[in-house]
Amino acid sequence: MTDQTIFLCKKSDLAPTGAFGVTITTDQGNLDIVVVSMDHDPSSPQSKTPSKTGYKAYINSCPHLSMPMETFEHEFLDRENPALIVCSTHGARFRSNDGLCLSGPCDGASLTSIPLTYTEDAIFMEKPHKTR
Ligand code: FES
Repeated sequence: MTDQTIFLCKKSDLAPTGAFGVTITTDQGNLDIVVVSMDHDPSSPQSKTPSKTGYKAYINSCPHLSMPMETFEHEFLDRENPALIVCSTHGARFRSNDGLCLSGPCDGASLTSIPLTYTEDAIFMEKPHKTR
């Protein structure tokens, strides 16, 4: 999109599970990221279309023990409540719209948010601004 952004995924990549795990390479090394849809509803065919309410992204590292969170590839969301991200290691649950842990061993901690920008079809990470 611009040299200030990094491609993460197509919006359609989130359709199967409401989330998408991706690894990008930065100047500081590899970064594992999870992108989540804000309105995934596995019971609705509308879930197969791009989100109307947007997307969020976080570093895929649980604040409890810095473990990756998914159960299986791209499976991050609570099946009972897809507004929650679940860490598969010890079951912490994070609010997907702000990354706050609502229950589990890191209750009250937060996932690290990644700023996003979109086109009609794709989701990009905004590169961090360099500081002196
Ligand atoms: S590593 Fe995520 S809850 Fe323990």
